Amino acid sequence: NHMMSDFLGSREGFSPEDMQGLADRVGQAHGSMAEKKNNGGMDWRRLPFTPGHILEEILKVAQNLRKEFETFVLLGIGGSALGPLAVQTALNHLHYNELPREKRGGPKIYILDNVDPERVRALLDVIDPATTVFNVVSKSGSTSETMAQFMIVQQWLQEKVGNQYARHIIATTDRERGNLIKIAQKEGYTTFYVPSGVGGRYSELSPVGLLPAAVAGIDIKEMLAGAAYMDQLCEEGNVWANPAYLLAVLQYLAMGRGKNISVMMPYANSLKYFADWYAQLWAESLGKRFNLRGEEVFMGQTPVKALGATDQHSQVQLYTEGPFDKVVGFLAVEEYRQEVAIPKTFEEIPGIAFLGGHTLGELIKAEQMATEYALLKAQRLNYTILLPEVNAFTVGQLIQLLEIQTAFLGELLNINAFDQPGVEEGKNATYALLGRPGYEEKRMELESRPAK
Ligand code: PA5
Repeated sequence: NHMMSDFLGSREGFSPEDMQGLADRVGQAHGSMAEKKNNGGMDWRRLPFTPGHILEEILKVAQNLRKEFETFVLLGIGGSALGPLAVQTALNHLHYNELPREKRGGPKIYILDNVDPERVRALLDVIDPATTVFNVVSKSGSTSETMAQFMIVQQWLQEKVGNQYARHIIATTDRERGNLIKIAQKEGYTTFYVPSGVGGRYSELSPVGLLPAAVAGIDIKEMLAGAAYMDQLCEEGNVWANPAYLLAVLQYLAMGRGKNISVMMPYANSLKYFADWYAQLWAESLGKRFNLRGEEVFMGQTPVKALGATDQHSQVQLYTEGPFDKVVGFLAVEEYRQEVAIPKTFEEIPGIAFLGGHTLGELIKAEQMATEYALLKAQRLNYTILLPEVNAFTVGQLIQLLEIQTAFLGELLNINAFDQPGVEEGKNATYALLGRPGYEEKRMELESRPAK
């Protein structure tokens, strides 16, 4: 109900009749969700039910890494990095790496998701090769950024730790396809597999995210239990009883009214990178060109990342008074895991004294409600997903909820939410520019592009 209120409550909003008008389309989309879940096409929906022996293997390796290494570095990009980043930030201490070793329990964790030479060099400057393990994550085993990082690190390790270097590298990749699996087998790295039917941005609950999470001591079984619980809730064909479908239908109606921007605004620093993860999920899954009865159609909603309360002082002015082109989604938290009291000081200055005696939790929740209210007053579409607390179970729920929402919206829009031809085009152009064999024609195509 909370989620619906501001979609229905404003002049800009929707009525139950608008929802009812979509009943046939919803029925068809639900049919194809069920078909794909059961018969292939949405293998990521099985990840919450990952067999116990795979989980035990992940936990065993993670336990050893926690004992043996001081630093764990994930090399990966896009779907191979954003999920781990979101989950690590949500569930670890917010200054995890700066905690003393005994409080952390596990190694420091870095997620290197770029090839900016300054960033790579900076990381190598502060880590000790003798006590660092690298998890190279690439489903395709061929992404230029990740492979370049891997090549640099593999040589660096050989130089620094000698012929024992292979125990400092763990590969997470496709079981059969790509170059990484071949190298991993030849060099004898510990290897985990991304199930072949699971695309990058839907892979967080596979070993891509589970291994780094377990290395940080996150309860991965609890995270999967949360995701499984949500998955079962979202089996329901009735939109009013299925939170992912409800969200997707409202977004669909909003898109039909020209709401081309989807803001995600967590009111918790721990969920900050969920907005980044969601941005990729939303943009890559739904940003599609297709042909409708001979006409080219360009589909999608531009995701925007914001953080409450910080961005109230930056973006909310635009959200309340700018163009009517956005849906603002809040991620709110009922109970923060820490509380800080605001002391009763400066009682002679009423303009700040009123804050004394409250807590920061009260303040940030009031700010979230105040922003919701400002949007409602300005007739702006917004919804709130309320987490009782940020913990492994609710994080698992949130991942599955947003993935099913995205997939269901893809079905409603009749697009393929699981390919990314635009990303592949860029990858291929990079291969061509740097001289990968087999990409000569692409290179010629690039060289004949109009000058800037
Ligand atoms: O969602 C996707 O498919 C992409 O963002 C990929 O995750 C990203 O390009 C990295 O690909 P890979 O894991 O194959 O290296």
